[in-house]
Amino acid sequence: MHWSGEWLVNALESPTSEILPEFHADLTLLAPVRHIGLAYGVSDESPQVLISEADISHRGDELAEQIAADYKDKGEIVLLGVLKGAFILLADLSRRLTIPRLVEFIAVSSYEDGDVPSGAVRLVMDVRSSIEGKHVLVVEDIVDTGHTLHYLIDMLKSREPASIKACVMLHKEHSTEVDVEIDYLGFTIGDEWVVGYGLDYAEQGRTLPYIGVVKP
Ligand code: IMP
Ligand code: MG
Repeated sequence: MHWSGEWLVNALESPTSEILPEFHADLTLLAPVRHIGLAYGVSDESPQVLISEADISHRGDELAEQIAADYKDKGEIVLLGVLKGAFILLADLSRRLTIPRLVEFIAVSSYEDGDVPSGAVRLVMDVRSSIEGKHVLVVEDIVDTGHTLHYLIDMLKSREPASIKACVMLHKEHSTEVDVEIDYLGFTIGDEWVVGYGLDYAEQGRTLPYIGVVKP
């Protein structure tokens, strides 16, 4: 589905919109517009570009080069992608690296207290093989409050990997509540909600090739 009138209708009707009351309010104001847009088949505006496809690609090259250099004498590494948001970063990074690597996935979700994320994190899908004695690089889309990465690193450390580091595409440094170490970082951004390059808003926008702001 495109970033279109159809998406707007879904967003208006989705309970997820209530998680972001401000955004929901804005969409509500746009409600009359959606009928006009849908009636004439006019697409709504695309998210505003924050980081272009070219900049993402350039930074991806730099990160891969740095990671390959740091791990070059370590043997095989495990790239552990955090679903769903990291799937594109993991695909790009894994193909750029020039060192031996395996790909694994893990999935987590935030516990919500009513509509508000509580900061607690739940493991939804575990890694399929043991990471004991392995060099693990956690690949994550974004660090916002930091709770997700903090939980993951803590949990994975208890399984005694040879080493554990994190590669994160985006960091909202002003929103971060718990200290987390990010060993390889793509970009620092403000506290706006971003979509694209794996990131979504209510499951929309994940496959955009650039990183865009939903609501400036
Ligand atoms: P945390 O607050 O650091 O625990 O981040 C939790 C998760 O929220 C991230 O892994 C993302 O999946 C999601 N998230 C946080 N900010 C954004 C955003 O701007 N766009 C899309 N997803 C986000
Ligand atoms: Mg994530």
